Amino acid sequence: MADCQGDGEGASSPVELYEKLTAQGEQVRTLKTAKASKADIDAAVQLLLKLKINYKQMTGQDYKAGCPPSENSVAPENGPAAGGADDEDTVDPWNVSTNNAKGVDYDKLILRFGSSKIDKELVDRIEKVSGQKAHHFLRRGIFFSHRDMHQVLDAYEKQKSFYLYTGRGPSSEAMHVGHLIPFIFTKWLQDVFDIPLVIQLTDDEKYLWKDLSLEDCHRFAVENTKDIIACGFDVNKTFIFSDLEYMGASPEFYRNVVKIQKHVTFNQVKGIFGFTDSDCIGKISFPAIQAAPSFSNSFPQIFNGRKDVQCLIPCAIDQDPYFRMTRDVAPRIGYPKPALLHSTFFPALQGAQTKMSASDANSSIFLTDTPKQIKNKVNKHAFSGGKDTVEEHRKYGGNPDVDVAFMYLTFFLEDDEQLEKIRQDYASGALLTGELKKLLIDTLQPIIEQHQQRRKEVTEENVKQFMTPRPLNFN
Ligand code: TYM
Repeated sequence: MADCQGDGEGASSPVELYEKLTAQGEQVRTLKTAKASKADIDAAVQLLLKLKINYKQMTGQDYKAGCPPSENSVAPENGPAAGGADDEDTVDPWNVSTNNAKGVDYDKLILRFGSSKIDKELVDRIEKVSGQKAHHFLRRGIFFSHRDMHQVLDAYEKQKSFYLYTGRGPSSEAMHVGHLIPFIFTKWLQDVFDIPLVIQLTDDEKYLWKDLSLEDCHRFAVENTKDIIACGFDVNKTFIFSDLEYMGASPEFYRNVVKIQKHVTFNQVKGIFGFTDSDCIGKISFPAIQAAPSFSNSFPQIFNGRKDVQCLIPCAIDQDPYFRMTRDVAPRIGYPKPALLHSTFFPALQGAQTKMSASDANSSIFLTDTPKQIKNKVNKHAFSGGKDTVEEHRKYGGNPDVDVAFMYLTFFLEDDEQLEKIRQDYASGALLTGELKKLLIDTLQPIIEQHQQRRKEVTEENVKQFMTPRPLNFN
């Protein structure tokens, strides 16, 4: 179980831990062969993962079956859990993974991607310009990186407005909680700056990448639109579009796609996205379609043909490769570069080594989950930073930096003081893993229930309104 019992932290040497890991691997295989219940297999896999993390922390090496640790294997001073893993984290639109139990090293990512850190000065400036207290995603570094945000604020102060652009790849009917992060933040930006927003649903992308029919991808786009509307966007300021519909209906949009396609080579997209010769040509040209909404004249009904309205894109940092390409091509086709605000990832239940992903049901809490499912998933699967036994936990305290329940609270518990108290109590051992998980369950259940209630109220007519190309109301 993910709770604090028997997870091998008590092993006194790398060899002892290695042996525990080998036995646990065997246990997982036995359960699978015996077709044991899913809950038992999941619990055994969870323990195996935890042991692997502990092994990496203790030895500085990945566990490999059949390769016992050498005598002198010890973690480097700044061991992997402290962010010192030397191997690069993988972050692209399709994969997010790291060996670090605390999650991706976002500072390193900023250097690698060449973006800028959202520092205190920028947060203060956003507060000053918007006249509103900064959203807790900004205050807590959940939105942590940007491109050209100061430029957007400079222009805004001179009465030059901008528009927001974000999106969703509709790969299934149900979105997960991680997908909400950019939409919650985008809604806040729309409210405080009073600006128009376009939301792209890349049903074409999902058709090209997944084994799904065009009809299903489009149906998912419409279903996901209901969840997006349920986030509370202002219909007078928001246009939501499916690529499969809008591309054919808007010559201006398609012209921009073609312009972008002409200015990016196969070599460039191979370098940025890792495409190979055996990828279908649809994938190779798709980045131009995700780039096109960054330019205001793709929406003549909103911007009257103006091509100079600045675009700001809030998204998690996995989408940045698309927009590095877009920013590179923009000046060559006479358009302003879009600015960006990047978020960190809402981690998988199993730990921050990867992001919550819709393709792994056990890693995610879905917006369709019942209160009971939320409770079970958190209790069974949420990786714990707690100690092996209650006694040890009380004595040494837990580690909130690797604890998934605590990480989720940083996204969803708005009260800064309460969050800090929980952190301190957990680290001191006053708060147990089960109690921390209960706090998360009590926080998440009403948020998801209220979302479901709002979604129920979204009608087909509402969807049509949001998805009809039309002028929007803004200054
Ligand atoms: P998609 O559907 O994978 O993700 C939708 C949005 O959610 C973000 N996201 C996450 N954020 C935090 N934690 C997570 N675990 C997590 N998983 C996903 C993504 O970064 C994204 O912002 N190709 C895109 C669709 C798209 C788009 C855009 C996204 C088209 N145009 C413009 C952002 C901005 C996609 O498949 O997103």
